[in-house]
Amino acid sequence: MQGAPVAWNVHKPLRADGTTVLVTGGNAGIGYFIAEQLATAGATVIIGSRSPAKAAAAVEAITARVRGSQVQHIPLDLTDLASLRASVSQLDTDALDAVVLNAGIALDEPPRKQNRRGHELMFATNHLGHFALVHWLAPWLEAAPAARIVTMGSFAARSERLDLDDLQSVRDYDPKRTYGRSKLAQMTFAFELDRRLRAAGSTCMSVIAHPGGALDALTPPRPGIHQRSGSQHFLTLPAKLLVQGKDAGAWPAVRATLDPEVQGGQLWGPSRLGLSGKPHLETPHPHMTDQPTGQALWTASTQLTRVDPFTS
Ligand SMILES: NC(=O)c1ccc[n+]([C@@H]2O[C@H](COP(=O)([O-])OP(=O)(O)OC[C@H]3O[C@@H](n4cnc5c(N)ncnc54)[C@H](OP(=O)(O)O)[C@@H]3O)[C@@H](O)[C@H]2O)c1
Repeated sequence: MQGAPVAWNVHKPLRADGTTVLVTGGNAGIGYFIAEQLATAGATVIIGSRSPAKAAAAVEAITARVRGSQVQHIPLDLTDLASLRASVSQLDTDALDAVVLNAGIALDEPPRKQNRRGHELMFATNHLGHFALVHWLAPWLEAAPAARIVTMGSFAARSERLDLDDLQSVRDYDPKRTYGRSKLAQMTFAFELDRRLRAAGSTCMSVIAHPGGALDALTPPRPGIHQRSGSQHFLTLPAKLLVQGKDAGAWPAVRATLDPEVQGGQLWGPSRLGLSGKPHLETPHPHMTDQPTGQALWTASTQLTRVDPFTS
C-alpha cells in the first residue's frame, strides 16, 4: 500500500462511494451492522439472505437510517449448494469490489443435522456454502479492479483442530467442537485462498476478520431487525467488560473490507484480548495457516461441492 498510514475511525470509515459489496447474512446480527456501516461509508450494499422478508426489513432499516444509501438483496441459502449459482445470477451489478462471508449457524445441541446432500449442517453452511459461493462469484470479483474476499472467522477456531478424516463430524459430533471446526475450516480456506490468489497473480485478495464476542443483548436496537429489552441489557452489563455488541463486532470485517492498508492473508480482530474493542491486526495461530492442511481441505471441499474457486 502507498501513502501515509490511515488512522482508522470505526465510527467514520473511509468513503467507499462507487464500490459494491455483497454481505452474506446481512439481514441480521453482525452482518446487518456490516451492511449498515458499509452503506454509511457510501458503498452499494447487496444483502444475501435466505429470507426475503428479513432482507427487505434490513434494506428498509438501512435506507431509513442512512440517507441516500443504496441497498439491495438477493436470495441466498448457503446450505443449498444447488441454489447458489442461481442466487449469484441475480446480482444486479457487473462487478463486486468485495464479498463479506459473514453468514453462519451455531447449533447448541445434538442430534447432528445434515443438509440435503448429507453434509453436516454447520460445516455445510459455514464452510462449504461459502467455498462454493466464492466459486460462483469469481467472475464478478475478477471484474473489479482489486476485489476482497473477507471471511468471518471466530476465536472458537483457536482451540480446535481439523480432523481431515472426519470433516463432517460423523464419528465424534459435539455441537461446540463441530462449530469451532467449521469456523477453522473457513479460516483455513481463506488463508489457502490467499496463497492461491497470490500464486496466480490475481487482482483479488483474501482477508480474514473475526468479531470477538458479540452479544445481541449489548447491541443497539434497530427497528424491524433487533429489539433489546431493558432487563436483558441490564443483566448482561457485566459482560460488557469482556465482550461487545454486534455493532462493534462488525468493525473488523468493515476495516478488512475498506482499509487500503489491509493486505491479503491478514487476520483482523478486536484489540482487547481478541474479544472486544477496535480492530487491530492479529497474528494467526500456526494451525490456521498450515499449508498442507489448507491444500487437503481445499481438495476435500472441491470433491464435496463439485466446484473449485477461481479455477475455470
Ligand atoms: N456473535 C459472536 O460472538 C460471534 C463470534 C465469533 C464469530 N461469529 C461469526 O460471525 C458471523 C455472524 O454471527 P452473528 O452472531 O451475527 O449470528 P446471527 O445473529 O445468528 O446471524 C447469522 C446470519 O447468518 C444467516 N444465515 C444462517 N444460515 C444461513 C444460510 N443457510 N444461508 C444464508 N444465510 C444464513 C442468518 O440468517 P437468518 O436470519 O435467516 O437466520 C443471519 O443473517 C457468523 O459467521 C459467526 O460464526 C460470531
